Amino acid sequence: MKIDKNVEDDGVIFMSIKDGNSDAVKDSGDVLILAIESSCDETAAAVVKNGREVLSNIISSQIALHTIYGGVVPEIASRKHVEKMNGCIRAALSEAHLTLKDIDAVAVTYGPGLVGALLVGVSEAKAISFATGKPLIGVHHIEGHISANFIENKDLEPPFVCLVVSGGHSHLVVVKDYGEYEIIGQTRDDAAGEAFDKVARAIGLGYPGGPKIDKAAREGNPDAFTFPQAQIPDAEYDFSFSGLKSSVLNYINQAKMQGQELDQADVAASFQKAVVEVLVSHAIKACKEYGYNKLAIAGGVASNSGLRELMEKECKANKIQFYRPSPVLCTDNAAMIGAAAYYEYKKGVRFGLDMNAVPNLPLGDRERKFHGRGN
Ligand code: KG4
Ligand code: ZN
Repeated sequence: MKIDKNVEDDGVIFMSIKDGNSDAVKDSGDVLILAIESSCDETAAAVVKNGREVLSNIISSQIALHTIYGGVVPEIASRKHVEKMNGCIRAALSEAHLTLKDIDAVAVTYGPGLVGALLVGVSEAKAISFATGKPLIGVHHIEGHISANFIENKDLEPPFVCLVVSGGHSHLVVVKDYGEYEIIGQTRDDAAGEAFDKVARAIGLGYPGGPKIDKAAREGNPDAFTFPQAQIPDAEYDFSFSGLKSSVLNYINQAKMQGQELDQADVAASFQKAVVEVLVSHAIKACKEYGYNKLAIAGGVASNSGLRELMEKECKANKIQFYRPSPVLCTDNAAMIGAAAYYEYKKGVRFGLDMNAVPNLPLGDRERKFHGRGN
C-alpha cells in the first residue's frame, strides 16, 4: 500500500492511497462504485471495483485543524467537507482513469456520525445520482469499517466475528452474511477510541489520542500500573471503559497532588494494555463459544499496534484465522464504503433521493429503502 501525502495551505492533509494491483479496465459484469465518506473529520472519495479492488482512494484529513481545540469541532468539519468534497471526487475519478459515465452507482455514508458532516456527503451523492441517473446506495459507517477487511483479504467471506472499535463504537459482531449482523456485545459507556482520546488528553499527549498513546506506549512499561478491566456479569461480551478511564484520571490527580512526575509512557502503556486485553479476550471467547474460526478487526482503534500484536498471538494460539485491514484502511476512508456498497448493490438495494443523514443510525437496523428513483 503506497500513500502519497501533501499538506495543503489550510493544514488539511491530502492523501492518495494506492495498492498497486488495481486495474481500471472494466469487463462486462464488473461493478464500479464511486464511494463518498464525510461522517466525521475526513472528506473521502474512492472508486471500488467489484467490492474488493480499490482503483482510487482519496482522503482529505482535517485532523490538524481540530488539534488546537482538542477534538473535532462539528461546524469546522462540515465547512471543510464542503470545500474539499468536489476535489476529492475529481481526484478519485481521475486516479482511476474514469469519468462519472463509467460508474455503476454512487454510494455514501448516511449515518452514524455528525449530522452536518454527513449531510455534505449525502447531498453530494444525491446530486451526482440525480445528474447522472446512476443508482444511489446509503451505507452504514460501521458496515463500511467491517467491509474494509474485504479489500486486502480477497478470501474472506462471512460468516465471521468482527471486533469494531472506533471513536464512537465498540461492538462485537457476528457477520452472518454480507450486510447481515448480529451484535453480541457493545460498550456500556465510552467507546474504546473515546477512552484513548480522553486519557491522552489527561496525560498531556493531546489529540488525536489513539495514535499518540500507541506511540508513547512503545517506550513505556505496560506493567507499571494495574488499571481495572471491567467484566460485566450479565453480559459477558459487553465492554465498559469508563471505570478504567476514571482510574487513570484518579492516578494522575494523585500523582499531581503528591508532586510526583508523571511518566506518560508508563501510563500510556499500562492503559493500552488494559484496553487491549479486554478487547482480545472478549473477541477470542466469542469465536470459541459461537464456533467461528475467523476473526476480523475494524475501526480506527484496530490500527493500534498493541491490539494487532496481541490479537494475532491469541488467534494463533487458538487456531483462529485473523484478518485486519492495513492501518490506513482502519481509520475513516471511502474505499471501505465502496466495499460495503457493492454487496448492497448486488442485492438490489437502491435509495431514493429522499435519503437523509441519520446521525444515530443503528447497525443492522438500517432505514433501507428499496423504492425507485425520485419516490
Ligand atoms: O474509525 P475512526 O477513524 O473514526 C470513527 O468512526 O470514530 O476512529 C477514530 C478513533 C479515534 O478515537 C482515534 O483516537 C482512534 O480511532 N485511533 C486509535 C489509533 N488510531 C486511531 N486508537 C488506538 N491506537 C491507534 N493507533
Ligand atoms: Zn469511522
